[in-house]
Amino acid sequence: MRQAHGGKLINRELKGNKREVYLSKVKNMPTLTLTNWNLSDLELISIGGFSPLTGFMREKDYLRVVKENRLENGTVWSIPITLSVTKEQANNYNVGGEVALVGEDKKIYGVLQLEEKYTYDKELEARNVYGTTEDAHPGVKKLYEKGAVYLAGSVYLLNRPSHGEFETHYKDPSETRRMFNDLGWKTVVGFQTRNPVHRAHEYIQKSALEIVDGLLLNPLVGETKADDIPAHIRMESYQVLLKNYYPEDRVRLVIYPAAMRYAGPREAILHAIVRKNYGCTHFIVGRDHAGVGDYYGTYEAQELISIYEKEIGINILKFEHSFFCKKCGNMGTAKTCPHRQEDHVHLSGTKVRALLRSGQKPPQEFSRPEVAEVLIRGMQREGEANA
Ligand code: ADX
Repeated sequence: MRQAHGGKLINRELKGNKREVYLSKVKNMPTLTLTNWNLSDLELISIGGFSPLTGFMREKDYLRVVKENRLENGTVWSIPITLSVTKEQANNYNVGGEVALVGEDKKIYGVLQLEEKYTYDKELEARNVYGTTEDAHPGVKKLYEKGAVYLAGSVYLLNRPSHGEFETHYKDPSETRRMFNDLGWKTVVGFQTRNPVHRAHEYIQKSALEIVDGLLLNPLVGETKADDIPAHIRMESYQVLLKNYYPEDRVRLVIYPAAMRYAGPREAILHAIVRKNYGCTHFIVGRDHAGVGDYYGTYEAQELISIYEKEIGINILKFEHSFFCKKCGNMGTAKTCPHRQEDHVHLSGTKVRALLRSGQKPPQEFSRPEVAEVLIRGMQREGEANA
């Protein structure tokens, strides 16, 4: 089995006696309420998804990540993993001490061993990580809303967050690694998505499946922007798709409990590193990976990740923009289809969401009918609940 990023799969989860000791110690610690985004970062650090990170980034790591896509020690890393508080809040916490990390539900989730507090340059982070300083970008907007101080240091996880109805599809990286081993999969392609799986996604996944042993369908189910399709509807759609169109023994559906940054090329690198930690040997980067609006070029993520691919140690499968060609009668790309644009069915996620909201079925060429049905029903339920 492949090594984790940085050499060792990190495990910061306390169990047994040590956990009991900490559970009584936290009562005397100052507390910090985590956002759901922070909580998902705490979880991913602790279960090894973000290996080699052992905590929220110290200033030297943070600055080198922002400026050079590397941790202080040179390991490739592209997205800051940080914990922000306001200047006033920062006064409540002493460097050298420990902080109890509490969820919005008031439950204790972990402990931060506070090693540093530092201020940071939001515009620099926005420009370098997201490629823009505009707050119309959802990742930049979130960044501008953060407190002015980052708290840094190693963490311990005392309780795992609940994943509710997705629990049956939850596995940590040590578990997915074991699962691949048990399945006898020597090569595994990871697939990131924050959308329902449409025909273009299916096409590139199955193209990959022609050359590797198995597919890890690994949808992101943490925080996304408000107009993305909610994770519970997507999860239902993935299951109906897999049941009807994929060989059962070649695919596993496991959630990726992270927040979406919409950082395009930089996030593609993070996504690849995480899937390496989950035990994948290959990772798909298609058109405008982790993009939003017009902030990134169609193949910018592929170009950036190509620089780091060897060092990260995962094979990046780069796919061109795929579409359904009416003349060919199947899916293809400019590499495989000779016909004109007018013969191609391209539907953007935005257009599909608009169709779904008005109760219209996306065409067969775009979505499998079973998937379209789940999505329409789900979006209508959602609409009624919000009415
Ligand atoms: S993402 O934000 O999670 O990247 P999405 O779920 O749409 O968004 O994409 C999942 C993966 O499929 C990404 O690697 C993306 O580049 C790829 N992809 C999406 N649509 C297409 C398409 N039409 N052609 C080729 N690749 C695509």
